[in-house]
Amino acid sequence: MRRVYLDYNATTPLAPEAAAAMIDALRDLPGNPSSIHREGQRARAAVEQARRRVAELIGADFTEIVLTSGASEANNIAVAALGERGPLLTTAIEHPSVLAPAQRLAEVVRAQPGPHGELPEVPALIAQAEAAGVRGVSVMLANNETGNVLPVAQFARAARERGWWVHCDATQAVGKIPVDVEALGVDLLSLSSHKLYGPKGVGALYVRAGLELPPMIVGGHQERGRRAGTENVAAIVGMGEAARISAQLDLAAEAARQQELREALWAGIQAIEPGAHRQGLTDPALPNTLNVRFPGVDGETLLMNLDLEGIAVSAGSACSAGSLEPSHVILAMGVPYDEARGSVRFSLGRPTTEEEIQLVLKRLPVVLERTRSLAWG
Ligand SMILES: Cc1ncc(COP(=O)(O)O)c(C=O)c1O
Repeated sequence: MRRVYLDYNATTPLAPEAAAAMIDALRDLPGNPSSIHREGQRARAAVEQARRRVAELIGADFTEIVLTSGASEANNIAVAALGERGPLLTTAIEHPSVLAPAQRLAEVVRAQPGPHGELPEVPALIAQAEAAGVRGVSVMLANNETGNVLPVAQFARAARERGWWVHCDATQAVGKIPVDVEALGVDLLSLSSHKLYGPKGVGALYVRAGLELPPMIVGGHQERGRRAGTENVAAIVGMGEAARISAQLDLAAEAARQQELREALWAGIQAIEPGAHRQGLTDPALPNTLNVRFPGVDGETLLMNLDLEGIAVSAGSACSAGSLEPSHVILAMGVPYDEARGSVRFSLGRPTTEEEIQLVLKRLPVVLERTRSLAWG
């Protein structure tokens, strides 16, 4: 059976160019980037080239990029650093890798979203933060479950005027919409390679020049003393190649293409299931994400039946997959617990075709019928 993958917010397949660059690096760059001999220096050059490519993709200087094991690590580091300065303002719809470290802090304010996942207006948020004596802010650029794009630039401007540090988890935005650290005005920004067609287990934290963060891992001079440990050269090279491809891509054209396919998918779903609810904003939003609530259906069961029919989607964030808990994002939007369980996220990617969308729409009625008969039968 031909499979259709519509879970690109969970992860993306490796770009062929990134795969080729990684194989070359594994074979041809055996040195330790910290060694001063030629083997070491060749590995160092490859790591630094990748760092420059990541920096270019987000409008940063290469000295501002700290290579990490992914966005979860970058988020943990950023939130802990902000928490050391004082109370933190974040939102209830962040990824667990922001929410969990924030939970450890003594004082946290969590902004609650409205029914479409939208944040309160920026002045209201700032007032809430000021009342709590906030010194740092962590707000995501794009939500992984609804695709909503949050007003980070506007928020960062107001926050920085007050001397607060601003962290942005831009993991879902990088490679899908333009992301520029200067335009956003943030101090810290997290990104992950595997959401932009690079390998898994590697990412970066942008740290604005002049900002002093406590070392993330001690015991080595790597990453300018900010994160000890011999670099994963091949993975870093793969991320660099993925960043280069993303920087060269006509993002606007690709976004328009995916958005059109997504709207065709939504129109088709509505025709099949008139009671379906679309969850999240349509604008500003990522072009690829469609979160749908199917009344009277358990999302996990639907997901499994879709999988049997060759369609890969998600029923929440990948990190909560395996648990039957509904998504914390959808619950925070005020959707009752039982209804929230009927949520399914379709996320499109660069390889997605119109034919694939038509295949999903062709198979969906049978799958919905089977899911309902299992639930009631
Ligand atoms: C918004 C967001 N932040 C952080 C992460 C974690 O990224 P990583 O898998 O690189 O740790 C994800 C991945 O699902 C995400 O969607």
